[in-house]
Amino acid sequence: MRRVTGKQVVDTSAADFDELVSRHEGVVLDVGTGDGKHAYHVARRRPAELVVGLDAAKDNLRRIAAKAAAKPAKGGVSNLLYVWAGVERLPAELHSVTEVHVLMPWGSLLRGMLGSDLTMLRDLAAVCVPNAEFLITLNLHAWRPAVPEVGTHPEPTPASALRDLAPVLAAQRWRLDEADYLDAEEIDALATSWTRRLNSSRDQLDVLALRGVINARDAGGGDGA
Ligand SMILES: C[S@@+](CC[C@H](N)C(=O)[O-])C[C@H]1O[C@@H](n2cnc3c(N)ncnc32)[C@H](O)[C@@H]1O
Repeated sequence: MRRVTGKQVVDTSAADFDELVSRHEGVVLDVGTGDGKHAYHVARRRPAELVVGLDAAKDNLRRIAAKAAAKPAKGGVSNLLYVWAGVERLPAELHSVTEVHVLMPWGSLLRGMLGSDLTMLRDLAAVCVPNAEFLITLNLHAWRPAVPEVGTHPEPTPASALRDLAPVLAAQRWRLDEADYLDAEEIDALATSWTRRLNSSRDQLDVLALRGVINARDAGGGDGA
C-alpha cells in the first residue's frame, strides 16, 4: 500500500502491515480522510488501535502525515497510517478492519455511501472483520441544492434512511442500526476541519449520522448452541 509520510510516498508491504495489525487491538479505517485531522484525533485518543486514514487525493494528507511520522514530542503518532488510494481500488494489503468511518463524503464516495455503487460497499465489507462498526456522517447541504452525486436520492431524514437506505446497505452486509441528526457539540467532537469550514460559512450545519454494523453475525448464533 502507498503510505504518505509527508513529501514522500513509501510502499508498505503486506508483512509490515500485518505486523502493525498484530501489535494493535483493532483497525479503524477513516475513508476519504481529507486532510486527515479526524484520523489523527482518533489515533491520539485510542492508542491501542491502529488508525488508517485513506484518501484518493494525497496532497491534502502531506502536512498531517509528516506530523504523524515525527517523533512523539513533535506530535508523532505510531498507531496512524495515511494511505493514498481510492476506495474503488483498496490496497490488497488492507484487512482486519474493526471500524469504518466515512465523514462528510463527496464525489464517488458519497455515491457509494448512498448505495449507488454496491461494489464499493461490498469491497469495504470484504476488508472488515465480523461485527465491524461503521459511522457515516452525511453533510445534508449536499442536497441544498442537490449535487449530481446524490442522483435521484432525496435528502435523507432519520426515518427515510432507516426505511429506504437500510435495505440497500443490508444487502451488502452493512446493517444500519441508527440514524440521527448531530448537534453542534457532536459535530465538533468529530474533529474534522471540513465540518469546521462548513460551520463557519453557514448559520447551521445539518449532518445526519448513520451507525451500524458490517458483517454482522446472526443474533441467533449459528453454532447450534
Ligand atoms: C468533503 S471531504 C471530507 C474529508 C474528511 N472526511 C473530513 O470530514 O474532514 C471528502 C473526501 O473524500 C475523498 N474521496 C472522495 N471520493 C473518494 C474515493 N472514491 N476514494 C477515496 N477518497 C475519496 C476526497 O478526496 C475528499 O478528501
